[in-house]
Amino acid sequence: MSVSVVILAAGAGTRMKSTLPKVLHKICGKEMLFYSIQEALKISDDIHIILFFEHKRIQDYVQNTFKNQLKHIHFHIQNHSKYPGTGGALIKDDLQNPIPTKYEQILILNGDMPLITKEQIEQLIVHKTLIAIGIFEISNPNGYGRVIIKDNQVKQIIEEKDANIDIKSIKTVNAGVYLFEKKVLQSYLPKVKNHNAQKEYYLTDLIQLAANDGIGITPVFVDRENFIGVNSKLELSIAQDLMLDRLRTRAMQQGVIIHLPHTVYLESDVIFEGECEIEQGVFINGETKIINSHIKAHSVIENSTIKNSKIGPMAHVRTNCYIDDTHIGNFVELKASELRGVKAGHLSYLGDCAIDKGSNVGAGVITCNYDGKTKHRTIIGKNVFIGSDSQLIAPIQIQSNVLIGSGTTVTKNAKEGDLVISRTKQENKTGGFYRFFKPNQSK
Ligand code: UD1
Ligand code: MG
Repeated sequence: MSVSVVILAAGAGTRMKSTLPKVLHKICGKEMLFYSIQEALKISDDIHIILFFEHKRIQDYVQNTFKNQLKHIHFHIQNHSKYPGTGGALIKDDLQNPIPTKYEQILILNGDMPLITKEQIEQLIVHKTLIAIGIFEISNPNGYGRVIIKDNQVKQIIEEKDANIDIKSIKTVNAGVYLFEKKVLQSYLPKVKNHNAQKEYYLTDLIQLAANDGIGITPVFVDRENFIGVNSKLELSIAQDLMLDRLRTRAMQQGVIIHLPHTVYLESDVIFEGECEIEQGVFINGETKIINSHIKAHSVIENSTIKNSKIGPMAHVRTNCYIDDTHIGNFVELKASELRGVKAGHLSYLGDCAIDKGSNVGAGVITCNYDGKTKHRTIIGKNVFIGSDSQLIAPIQIQSNVLIGSGTTVTKNAKEGDLVISRTKQENKTGGFYRFFKPNQSK
């Protein structure tokens, strides 16, 4: 499509009250700017990102994340001290020169709209007008620019800080997405002034200047939920809720059963295959794949693959696990482990280990993977029975068909067929209780 996209990401993001630049705040595990760039790349091969505050940090992030598409992405540093504001962001060096773009049609997106979709922004592009603006109605328009429409044309956008009480009551607002013909930007950018409450060069002032000259400006009604602007951490949480709704809906449409969906956290790279069931309060992040599995209430699954298994309730599968045909019960924590055909029903820590088919991990078993300096692996073969409350001091290898007695501290490798036990012999001292306690008089 012959349209250039400009993403505005130079603002200080003061209202976020954070040292992290606004556009790097995350929604469902990914930076807000990620979503803008991802959608922009679906419609254009000429993307321009405007930066100023923390520009190096943001540019590094984009360069690392979109490594394979960098030929389509151009960075510009706004001359913010001279030309602050969303209009100033479109200037290359001085007011006479807009950002140089490849195409005549320029789509401008605020960088703080993480919920935009290709389909929604395309609605503006199809309008073959000199200027089109995305607008929506909102019951609480606080913070948004109010849009004045006459005869189905936009005449003016008035920012909250410059609005009187009457204007503030208008509920039609500027979404923060615009389509301009390059020649309109070239003519009107030099005329924009900073005579407003914030002493900024507003992009929205271009609209009034063009409208005064009789240029028709098409209002395009967009879906509010896709264009929510994130200026504060409250709005960040609202945007994340909307994104979660999308992800959960997508999963349920694919056939996943989700109990109390509003309590389940997912991220966009989580994949479900086959028949899956997710209970309430489950948290799943990263590039997790769940295949034909049941994740029970309040379990946490991070960046792992789970296949034909039952997990939880209240289990913690940390990053880089591969779990197949396995039952993981409550209060079991796993990390970087591979379990195939295993039962680990209760209260265990299984880190940096591989456990093979038919093995049973008793309650309270711990793989002691860390010696204070380095992490070591525990390898356990098939049909190993690990009695409750045993510790395996890694690095260690247990071959198949081994029985480890309850309470054993395993420090040596075990061979096929071994019974491993390290208990001290039990002694029962007759009457020993009464050396410490008096007999209960009431009995
Ligand atoms: C802006 C609009 C408002 C609209 C709202 C929609 C203006 C003047 N106001 O207000 O009409 O209803 O978005 O969400 O445009 N930025 C720069 N350089 C700057 C200042 C900002 O690149 O000098 C970037 C920011 O990083 C941000 C975007 O522009 O991504 C919008 O700026 P923001 O401060 O969030 O504007 P709003 O007050 O939300
Ligand atoms: Mg904003």
